[in-house]
Amino acid sequence: MWHPEPVVRHTIPETRWPTREEAARALLFQPVRVGRVELESRTWVPAMVPWRATEDGFVTRENLEWYGRFAAGRPGAIVVEATGIRDVPSGPLLRIGHDRFLPGLRELVETVRRESRGRTRLFIQVIDFLSVKRRPEKSKFFGRFLDVGERHRRALAELTGDEGWLSLGEPAVRAFLRDAPDEVVERVLDGRELEALRYGYRERVTDTQLAHVRELPRVLPGLFAEAARRAREAGFDGVELHYAHAYTMASFLSRRNDRADGYGGSPEARARLPLEVYRAVRERVGADYTVGVRFLGDEVIEGGSRVGDAAFYAAEFARAGLDFLSVSKGGKFEDAKQPKVGHAVYPYTGPSGYECMPTVLSDALGPFGRNLSLSRAVRDAVRAEGLETPVVAAGGVGTFELAEEILRRGDADIVGAARQSLADPDWFLKARAGRGADVRRCTYTNYCEALDQSHKQVTCKLWDREGLKDPGVALSSDGRRRLLPPRWTDGEK
Ligand SMILES: Cc1cc2nc3c(=O)[nH]c(=O)nc-3n(C[C@H](O)[C@H](O)[C@H](O)COP(=O)(O)O)c2cc1C
Ligand code: SF4
Repeated sequence: MWHPEPVVRHTIPETRWPTREEAARALLFQPVRVGRVELESRTWVPAMVPWRATEDGFVTRENLEWYGRFAAGRPGAIVVEATGIRDVPSGPLLRIGHDRFLPGLRELVETVRRESRGRTRLFIQVIDFLSVKRRPEKSKFFGRFLDVGERHRRALAELTGDEGWLSLGEPAVRAFLRDAPDEVVERVLDGRELEALRYGYRERVTDTQLAHVRELPRVLPGLFAEAARRAREAGFDGVELHYAHAYTMASFLSRRNDRADGYGGSPEARARLPLEVYRAVRERVGADYTVGVRFLGDEVIEGGSRVGDAAFYAAEFARAGLDFLSVSKGGKFEDAKQPKVGHAVYPYTGPSGYECMPTVLSDALGPFGRNLSLSRAVRDAVRAEGLETPVVAAGGVGTFELAEEILRRGDADIVGAARQSLADPDWFLKARAGRGADVRRCTYTNYCEALDQSHKQVTCKLWDREGLKDPGVALSSDGRRRLLPPRWTDGEK
């Protein structure tokens, strides 16, 4: 896992938990309006992919139990993991690209209603992503994938001083490159080909030579709108449009997007498709449904969008009528680590990935509340428009004290806690009940994230080896870990 150099090792801070009376008065436990719904408190579990869907994207019993377990802690809101809007195979990630997914999604909604006793609002994150292939074997890449052309022959002729390459057959070119040393390959392939060889082929929104990429602005509004219609039919309280991290919509917002068709270049043009998608969604679901967005306060990559861009987008989104703005950071492909052969590049493995889910191996700033300047800038930009759209912050928030400080300072209106909620889904309940001393505290070392990276069922190291033999405990596919934290039996009735 990448970490800043020189590294500064942090430990989780000592903290004071509130008494029940203090909690009752705390800002964190006051209600907040989010579009058409009211959250009972300002606590929020951001989207987390747990790798529990079926291979074809259906909700499983394990998904139901996962969300049911988070709901038992009664956060103000839970956002269901990134869920694909297309009707195409995408591995064990939830999908919402067809009505056949509705029964499972309905059951998910019912489970959360039941387990939270109707107290937690449930949103679903809807996502589109482009194709990312696994890193190929060198022999396969040169044998099949490389599109051999005039450019390669010319480069070989120049390199070797032998014009014979210009008329040589494709098999000979392929065989030569397959066995050539890196320095030669580097001089013959262009940047994208080298990337495809070393990281696996990855599409970009700027690949407008590809018809399906060129057509994204025509296709995506309808796909997102239908996904949102299904979310409403399944009973979700709202949708979160996933405009963050490494995926299609974030790439349209990126400063790196130089599409020349009116959907790239200037900030206004980069925001055009995200706004068109939102309008299509709004038209389909109506004015009385909550539609929010998650986007990046900073991409943290060279040439990428920074906080000034995010402030501009925030104002545009709020003016357009989005009901909440959830601010994340980084999580990009551009600086990701080279994957092993046979694996796909993963957007949380480089510096921008670090910023998305910071760990205790950090720099002087440390991981706790690391991204608050971003949510603050976004909130200020929205307030400067005279709008009250609530802003959600996340990133290393795992104590009541910090959550309360965030709200008091006006860094955000709602506090998201992903890993702390995984470490202890009852932590909001415990804090509220004056039982903060019972909170199992996240150590921010990213064992869970490593599982996510290898597409294994996500669990937390603080509880996944406990009571493996207890009756009724569901285990991971390798039988070594429990899939859910033990129940908090002392909980408020
Ligand atoms: C296992 C795991 C899966 C995640 N999946 C998603 C996701 O589907 N969508 C998303 O926007 N963020 C995802 N995230 C990022 C979190 O929502 C959150 O922004 C990040 O973990 C920082 O917050 P934290 O410090 O409270 O954990 C994931 C994080 C983890 C640890
Ligand atoms: S495994 Fe548990 S303790 Fe470690 S970072 Fe993830 S949630 Fe926190």
